[in-house]
Amino acid sequence: MANVWIIGASSGIGAALAIALAAEGHSVVVSARRSDLLEQVATRAPRPGAIVPLPLDVRDRASLETGAAQVFSRFGRLDYCFLNAGKYELSRGGIDPAVYAEVTRVNYLGVVECLAVVIPRLIEQGSGQILVTASVAGYRGLPQAGAYGPTKSALISLCETLAVELKPRGVTVRVINPGFIRTAMTAKNRFYMPFLIDADDAARRILDRLPRKSFEIAFPWQMVILMKIMRILPNSLYLRLMRIITPSQGAFDPPRDR
Ligand SMILES: NC(=O)c1ccc[n+]([C@@H]2O[C@H](COP(=O)([O-])OP(=O)(O)OC[C@H]3O[C@@H](n4cnc5c(N)ncnc54)[C@H](OP(=O)(O)O)[C@@H]3O)[C@@H](O)[C@H]2O)c1
Repeated sequence: MANVWIIGASSGIGAALAIALAAEGHSVVVSARRSDLLEQVATRAPRPGAIVPLPLDVRDRASLETGAAQVFSRFGRLDYCFLNAGKYELSRGGIDPAVYAEVTRVNYLGVVECLAVVIPRLIEQGSGQILVTASVAGYRGLPQAGAYGPTKSALISLCETLAVELKPRGVTVRVINPGFIRTAMTAKNRFYMPFLIDADDAARRILDRLPRKSFEIAFPWQMVILMKIMRILPNSLYLRLMRIITPSQGAFDPPRDR
């Protein structure tokens, strides 16, 4: 049975994953800021102590250092570390640098902070997997995803770099690229979300692919194929297509609602 740490597990995909992993007999530490929700996730474990809450903020290096020390002293050896914390803001009403900075701080720099505390410990044990949740939204620039999309593209790129660099040290780096998942994050979307699936379904798909060796875990396949086709389209064709599907309420129009 594996020892697992999920950062970004108080709700949505991370919470569902924690419960699914614990149901399979694994030991899971769940982290995020909202300790009340982490406690609730822990109460849904199939046996007492299978899910342990450990509150922290990925923007706070000190809380991550303390958290990592606790996780490694508890487990002795960490098998899987899911870096899943994320923040989503629709980009509307023009570019707000404060919003871009905050989304980047959580989604990209938050993962970098986590990596900084986890990688040296995994190198020391000479094993372990790091699984970073990016998104199929990171494949290409999408309308109204100005703040969010680039953070996910950056994560995919970072994972490719680290997968190569850490392989000789016994550490595996993988990227998880979900399509649309029904969680608090997507509840604010007012547009049609193709191939939307539930968080429990997403967790099951991640779990099923965990033993495989693939660098990327992406789902649902319909959305992945659609976005991978977008990725190989010539720029002129892709941009024309995006202009056609862009909502009438554009990113640079004054927002009517939020
Ligand atoms: N839903 C989708 O359609 C979709 C698609 C592709 C990728 N993703 C990615 O999947 C991941 C999980 O998202 P979700 O859909 O499950 O949404 P969610 O329910 O909102 O989960 C986001 C998680 O990130 C945590 N988090 C946010 N800021 C944090 C911080 N500063 N420090 C520590 N934890 C923090 C949240 O906990 P606290 O608020 O308690 O801190 C929560 O546990 C995200 O990285 C998201 O970008 C989602």
